[in-house]
Formats: sequence, C-alpha cells, structure tokens
Amino acid sequence: MTNNTLPILASQHGALRLLTLNRADKLNAFTPDMLAALEAEIADALADDATRVIALTGSGAKAFAAGNDIERLVSLDGVSAYRDMVAGQRALLRLHESAKPTIAMVNGYALGGGFELALACDFIVASSDASFAFPEITLNTMPGWGGTQLAVAKMGLACAKRFVLSGRRFSARECEAFGFIHEIAAPEKLFDTVRAFADTLASYDPFAAEMAKRALNRAGELPLSAGLDFEAAQYAVNFSSEGARAGLRHFVERKRARRAAQADTAPVTP
Ligand code: COA
Repeated sequence: MTNNTLPILASQHGALRLLTLNRADKLNAFTPDMLAALEAEIADALADDATRVIALTGSGAKAFAAGNDIERLVSLDGVSAYRDMVAGQRALLRLHESAKPTIAMVNGYALGGGFELALACDFIVASSDASFAFPEITLNTMPGWGGTQLAVAKMGLACAKRFVLSGRRFSARECEAFGFIHEIAAPEKLFDTVRAFADTLASYDPFAAEMAKRALNRAGELPLSAGLDFEAAQYAVNFSSEGARAGLRHFVERKRARRAAQADTAPVTP
C-alpha cells in the first residue's frame, strides 16, 4: 500500500515485511493512531505466510523514532498515562513474542519509546549515525513502554542504569560495545544490510526459529531448572517437526556422499 498519509507504511521485499513509522516532520514521535496501526500491521505480517521476517524503521533521514509525543503526554492525567503505557507495552510485547524474527532498522535517533521499540525487536541494525537514549529522566519522567525491563534484559543492569538514570545519548558505536547492536552500516547501505540479514534469517526453518526464540525469551524469567525444562520441551516439539528431521538427514546424507566420493577417488594401494 502506498498511501503516504498512513501512520505506518508497509512494503514487501521478498520474505521481508518492512514497516515504516510515517511521521518524519515530528521525528516519528508516537501517537496512539501510530501505535494502533503498528499493532495491526504486525498482526498482518504475522498472519502472512510469505512474510518470514519483520523489520521496523522510521521515515526521513533523522530519526527512527523520537519517543512518545511529548505535546500529547503533557495533557494526560495519571490514569490516562497508565493506559497509554499499558497500550505501548502491549504493542512492544507483540514484537518481543512474535513468532517471526524482528529487526529494528535504526536510521537516526532512537529515543524513549523509539529506543524501547528497537529493544523489543530481536535484532538492532543501526546506521553509523544512529544514536540511542532514554531522555525521560531529563523530563522528570521515566521509560514506561517496557524500557526498564527490556534494557536490563538486553544489556544488563549496570548498562541499563547508565541509560535510564543519566538520560545521555550514546552513539551506535558506543552501543555496539554494550552488546545490544547486531550490526552497524553506513546510512546508504542500511536497507541492503537489513535485507541481506533478513534473507539469511528467512533461509532457516521458521518453526525451529520460533521454538528457539520462545525458549530464549523465557531465559531470565524462569529459574534455571524451569528454563531448562521449558527448553527441553521446546526441543522435543521442534524435533517432532518434519523440518528438524529433514535438516539432520540432509547433514548426514551430505557427509555420506562426501565420504563415498573420497573413497571413489582414493588411490588404490597395491
Ligand atoms: N514529541 C513530540 N514532538 C517531537 C518529539 C517528541 N518526542 N521529538 C521531536 N519532536 C518534534 C519537534 O517538536 C519538532 O516539531 P516542530 O518542527 O513542529 O517544532 C520536530 O519534531 C523536529 O524536532 P526538533 O527538536 O526541531 O529537531 P532537533 O534536530 O533540533 O532535535 C531531538 C532533535 C530528537 C534532539 C529533539 O527533537 C528532542 O529532544 N526530542 C525529544 C526526545 C525525547 O525526549 N523523547 C522522549 C519522549 S518521552
């Protein structure tokens, strides 16, 4: 669909569904309409068999997303702020738990809710001029779309505190050292980099990836023994799929064929 007035633009690139936050003049700051449209587009991408990977980005050259719309936040009371945060958390949880791999293609500022959105994705691929921050503390507020929880899960408590309590903006290169960035690309190569990575992800069995992601997502939520039980159960469920058997069989057959070829070409010793 190419209606430039839509809050979220969706485009298909092979197995990749790219969702673009479409409010460049406000650095893609979130409105409730955008959030609702994003949820609907995520649901649509999840329901589409041809889509194997979902990526998110921001329109314009400056920002992935500069967070929640501050002009709107100012007018909220406590109850509506609570509802707003729960709605944001629900949308981000859909990404975090989505059966298909997700990539945040961060093309500039990823601030506040924009940073939370990126952290809710499985991977962050950032342009070299991207930057990340939780500026909420500078507004006497705090992250509310899962930022405190996701940041700890993705970068550890000490690093999460640096972001949330300092409000400082960190460059993509600095963030790479924190471990939550998968890859950095030059701005003009960002989409091609994401596309190539998505093609790799899409080349694997989707059921195996889904089961592995479910097990990974429980790490840190469950005590180790329960996490291991969950992992073993996911392993068994995946093992019952034709894809798992075909993958293992393929490896064994390749080895056998190679051994047979080596035996055929081996010099005959007298
Ligand atoms: N909410 C609402 N509007 C926002 C916004 C936000 N989070 N972030 C940027 N905008 C708007 C600006 O008000 C401006 O609108 P205008 O042209 O109508 O005045 C437009 O987007 C461009 O932003 P501007 O501030 O002029 O760009 P800049 O390059 O000077 O600064 C930022 C960029 C990101 C540093 C700055 O916009 C900023 O600090 N934004 C707020 C980030 C934030 O605190 N996010 C957490 C929210 S809880």
